[in-house]
Amino acid sequence: MPAHFPPLIAPSVLSADFSRMAEEVIAVERGGADWLHLDVMDGHFVPNLSFGPQLIKALRPQSGLVFDVHLMIAPVDPYLEMFARAGADHIHLHIEAGPHTHRSLQQVRALGVKPGVAICPATPPEAVAEVLDLVDMILVMTVNPGFGGQKFLTSQLDKIRTLRRMADATGRDIRIGVDGGVDVETAALATAAGADMLVAGTSVYGQPDYGRAITALREAGRRPA
Ligand code: DX5
Ligand code: ZN
Repeated sequence: MPAHFPPLIAPSVLSADFSRMAEEVIAVERGGADWLHLDVMDGHFVPNLSFGPQLIKALRPQSGLVFDVHLMIAPVDPYLEMFARAGADHIHLHIEAGPHTHRSLQQVRALGVKPGVAICPATPPEAVAEVLDLVDMILVMTVNPGFGGQKFLTSQLDKIRTLRRMADATGRDIRIGVDGGVDVETAALATAAGADMLVAGTSVYGQPDYGRAITALREAGRRPA
C-alpha cells in the first residue's frame, strides 16, 4: 500500500530533559504527538548508552501514546520479552544486530507487539527484502545510530524510495519511518521519497514550543518537496 499522509510524528525522548521525563512525555502528548519514540542503546551495538525497560515501564502509566521502542542493542532476543512486558507497542530491531532477524521479528509478533526492522546508513535496502512479510514498519536511519542532534544524510533518500517500492509491492500496509536529523526541511524530503513516519528528537525537544514544533513537522511532511 502507498504511503499515508500526513506523516505520523514520533518525538524521541533521547533529547528530552531526563530529570523530568514524565512531564516531558505528557508535554508532547498534549502537543499532538502520534507516537513516542524510545531509543534503547547498549554501548555495544552503538557507542552510547541510554536507558532500558525500567524507564519504559515507569512511563507507561503516564501516557496513552503508542510506545515506539527502537532497540539499538545486540543481541536482542534475550530482551524482547522484557520490553514487551514493560509496555512497548512497537519494537524496531536492527537488521545488522544479528544473523537471525527473521526469528527475532517472529518473536516480537508472538509477544503481541508490532515488529519493525531498522536499517543503518551503510546497509543496502535489499538486506531487508526477506523480512518484509514479517514487519509492520521499516525504520530508515538517516544518521549513524547512537546520538541525537546529527545531520540528516541525504544519501539515504534513494534508499527510502527503493524501500517504498519494495513495501508497496508486498500489498501490505508497511509504514516507513525516518530516524535522525529530521527537521522541517528534511521532513519534506523524506516524505516526498515515501516516508510516512518521522522520528524527531532535537527538532521537538530542542524547541521552546513542542506543540508548534510537532505541527510544523507534520505540515512540512504534507507538502511535496
Ligand atoms: C539516533 C536515535 C534517534 C535520535 C534522533 O541514534 O535513533 O531516534 O533520538 O535524534 P535527532 O532527531 O536529534 O537526530
Ligand atoms: Zn531512534
